Amino acid sequence: MTTPTADWWREAVFYQVYIRSFADASSDGVGDLAGIRSRLPHLVDLGVDALWITPFYPSPMADHGYDVADPRDVEPTFGDLSGFDALLADAHAAGLKVTVDLVPNHSSDQHVWFQEALASAPGSPARARYFFRDGRGPDGSEPPNNWPSVFGGPTWTRVPDGQWYLHIFAPEQPDLDFANPEVVADLEETLHFWLRRGVDGFRIDVAHGMAKPDGLPDMAPAEDTGLFADDGPGDLRFDQDGVHAVHRRLRAVLDQYEDRMAVGECWVFDDERLAAYLRPDELHLAFNFRLLTADWEADSLRSAVQHSLAAVAPTPAPACWVLSNHDRPRHVTRYGGGELGTRRARAAALLQLALPGVAYVYNGDELGMPDVDLPDEALQDPIWERSGHTERGRDACRVPVPWSGDSPAYGFSTTPDTWLPMPAGWGPLTAEAQAADPGSMLSLYRSALALRRSSSAFTGEDVQWLPAPEGVLAFRRSGGLVCLVNLSGAPVPLPEGEVLLASEAVADSTLAADAAVWLQG
Ligand code: GLC
Repeated sequence: MTTPTADWWREAVFYQVYIRSFADASSDGVGDLAGIRSRLPHLVDLGVDALWITPFYPSPMADHGYDVADPRDVEPTFGDLSGFDALLADAHAAGLKVTVDLVPNHSSDQHVWFQEALASAPGSPARARYFFRDGRGPDGSEPPNNWPSVFGGPTWTRVPDGQWYLHIFAPEQPDLDFANPEVVADLEETLHFWLRRGVDGFRIDVAHGMAKPDGLPDMAPAEDTGLFADDGPGDLRFDQDGVHAVHRRLRAVLDQYEDRMAVGECWVFDDERLAAYLRPDELHLAFNFRLLTADWEADSLRSAVQHSLAAVAPTPAPACWVLSNHDRPRHVTRYGGGELGTRRARAAALLQLALPGVAYVYNGDELGMPDVDLPDEALQDPIWERSGHTERGRDACRVPVPWSGDSPAYGFSTTPDTWLPMPAGWGPLTAEAQAADPGSMLSLYRSALALRRSSSAFTGEDVQWLPAPEGVLAFRRSGGLVCLVNLSGAPVPLPEGEVLLASEAVADSTLAADAAVWLQG
């Protein structure tokens, strides 16, 4: 149980529920709010403190909920408002905080505002909530600038009267113009709506995107697209200085309520620029995506940790660690897949959970779920179509969670016909099978989270690096926890200290390759 304190989130472990894939109570093959409610005991046993639920608002699902048609209601596929209230009440009764996704940067093209904009004339107030512009070239048939969409193709789509509108993501996700006070006011209303219902905070989608440079100038051709790689300095779509004014407005609303927080999805890799989002009147937390993007290699992981700590050092915020989410290949797969990937993922879990600050666990991390090779016809991510079938997109990391049994849908749903197909052979991966096995990933997570919560070794926000053999990460927290991660490829000697937990059995005072250990130093 989390004890409510002003800063309950500072050391919290959040669990990301990708709603479509977590648990399906309505038997349509898509997860829902009632499904989450039915699986709260799993989260309590796991030992997390809080949930982040991905968007469950009315949506045509062009981007699986990140295209929001009405931010103050519930998509019927996922339930209704009273179902949300019931989930919130149960979660709170179980000692779990609940945070929801806020998608400010864009709306769905089916949002009443966008429909009104389409029906209105160029230059009208209805168009001024979005970015409608005339095209370039003699007849305006060229897009207004050269920006690429994160999902492939241009960021502009032309409407019948000849104007173009901006969409950093899919054409079904038109960007809103936060220079328009009406847009900011509506976002504030959405915040109040969910805060009054009792949510504990928000995860802010594309938190580095809600400001565009004046005049929307061309950007230097960049290889990266902002979402899937480090934003380069020339990427004008993201991290514009004007975005901070929006965050200050958001924070002012949150501060009217007690104990609420916001975490930003800021794909910003410059430490100082990331720190700017964490000023006292902006976000409480910002995901640090360096662990999510680092290779399984000592220097790269050490540098990820160092940069993440350096970014938050001048701010009131703790670091915020992420190994996987619904946008990136799962870490079991990134680390090589199969037994090796799983072994490394076990070690990575101990690394993540030993670090000071906040940890986000993506649903299925605790089961060691890998990415799934899906057949072409099963793919649903807009990236697949928009890239002309050259990029497979993010479906591989979004396959539903297996709960029990030996065949699809493994207790996720009563129908085997799930929105993304679940593979054969996942019986041993289910939560049920793993709960009964002390050597499973699930048992490791449970032990790690229980220790993290109960032991004073995990106190202190500093990380002191310890001398260690080449290829080994070793650090100490001021509370006394020592964490060693062996990426050297060979066994290494264990330092002095009582072993609290290890990702592989420790024998003869050595730590095996691709293993991690927690010691009381
Ligand atoms: C964020 C979400 C991603 C979504 C995008 C557009 O990056 O995590 O899933 O596609 O924003 O809303």
